[in-house]
Amino acid sequence: MVKARTQFVCQNCGTAHSRWVGKCEGCGEWNTVVEEDPMGGIGSGPGKVPKKGRPVALTALSGEIEEAPRIHTRISELDRATGGGFVRGSAVLIGGDPGIGKSTLLMQAAAALSRGGHRVIYVSGEEAVAQVRLRAQRLQAAETDVLLAAETNVEDILATIGEGKRPDLVIIDSIQTLWSDTADAAPGTVTQVRTGVQAMIRFAKQTGAAMVLVGHVTKDGQIAGPRVVEHMVDAVLYFEGDRGHHYRILRTVKNRFGPTDEIGVFEMSDKGLREVSNPSELFLGERNAKSPGAAVFAGMEGTRPVLVEVQALVAPTSLGTPRRAIVGWDSARLSMILAVLEAHCGVRLGQHDVYLNVAGGYRISEPAADLAVASALVSSLAGLALPADCVYFGEVSLSGAIRPVAHTAQRLKEAEKLGFSQAVLPAGSADLPKGAGGQWTEIESLPDLVARIAGSKRALQREDEDV
Ligand code: TYD
Ligand code: MG
Repeated sequence: MVKARTQFVCQNCGTAHSRWVGKCEGCGEWNTVVEEDPMGGIGSGPGKVPKKGRPVALTALSGEIEEAPRIHTRISELDRATGGGFVRGSAVLIGGDPGIGKSTLLMQAAAALSRGGHRVIYVSGEEAVAQVRLRAQRLQAAETDVLLAAETNVEDILATIGEGKRPDLVIIDSIQTLWSDTADAAPGTVTQVRTGVQAMIRFAKQTGAAMVLVGHVTKDGQIAGPRVVEHMVDAVLYFEGDRGHHYRILRTVKNRFGPTDEIGVFEMSDKGLREVSNPSELFLGERNAKSPGAAVFAGMEGTRPVLVEVQALVAPTSLGTPRRAIVGWDSARLSMILAVLEAHCGVRLGQHDVYLNVAGGYRISEPAADLAVASALVSSLAGLALPADCVYFGEVSLSGAIRPVAHTAQRLKEAEKLGFSQAVLPAGSADLPKGAGGQWTEIESLPDLVARIAGSKRALQREDEDV
């Protein structure tokens, strides 16, 4: 008999090695390599004759398209993030840090769907029935017809959810607890998680039930171990937020049935998650407009404009290498802005510590925030508050030019709605509304911006002298 060859698989990134190594060659993590059966125990082994293939009918690209059948949760922020509700026969992965509120969100979704007459099964592998019941009580979901099971074995789960009437939605909380008899590896390993998820996806495709899988994220932001799961599912959503803040953002990173840049915004309360339909008001809530170093960025999240405050503090350093501390933005982009300020605007920050924070724990991923960041930095260095009713957006290029960004009209409309009457934006913005009420200043380069802010300082000084 031929002995099945074993593989050594990194539990962090899934790279396979032919022998055990202390450090993974794929991701560089230490002590993550574990011995596994390469086929996950399914269909492998000697003596198995491969089945002869059967040709399938080839078809044309044109033809009738059916709209993906969806089930709406009527939690509009959740429906927005999924692109209009869960799709029947599809699998969605919801990732997030432990304790961020994934189980809470899904229990609320389960309750809402159950109230709408759908058959919902919630399989908890992490908590006992009593714990889940307690949460359901707190969320006022206990009186609904959500069916509950505390189980981790894949075969038992399949037998349970396959019994009786087809469920409309199945929630598996979480994939890290799944284990199957067929996979020859310890629970929680890549092989086990992959096997479990594959079985759940197959169930969804066969029965037309929507499958929601919960996955925990490790500290470096990957879904623990099974990065490999992301490509298997139809949609990946991340539930993120700052533990110190109350609101949570559901961000779509992959969606085979809808847009990928949407977010849903929630606020965690003592009765579960509450929807936030106007996030700008929330993010600007604690604003102190009179202090230097704060600039309001008019951003976009998918189809929705979001206004957030960017705060900068520039202070002389006492260290040999000045500090750069950033929360909510990309550190490489900050370095770039600092370099452009230095090279093209004569703003020297080499002897200064720079702290940058996006208010409220929000995370900006758009390059359009460059202009707001630069404004906040210059404002802090000059010790001069920016106009309280002004928003900023635009991308800065390495040459110091300000590049136009998309959705100008929408950004300005949101700003006006929230009482901002001025905006500093890139020259040549395509869809700039003509004859609008606000005062829009188009600038071409970063030196123009610095001159504007410094100019307002001179104007102020003159006023002081006149007095
Ligand atoms: P949970 O949904 O268990 O997180 P996850 O499944 O992502 O690990 O939520 C955990 C946190 O949410 C916990 O610290 C308590 C808090 N919470 C509230 O503040 N209000 C509530 O109504 C509920 C149910 C939880
Ligand atoms: Mg949980």
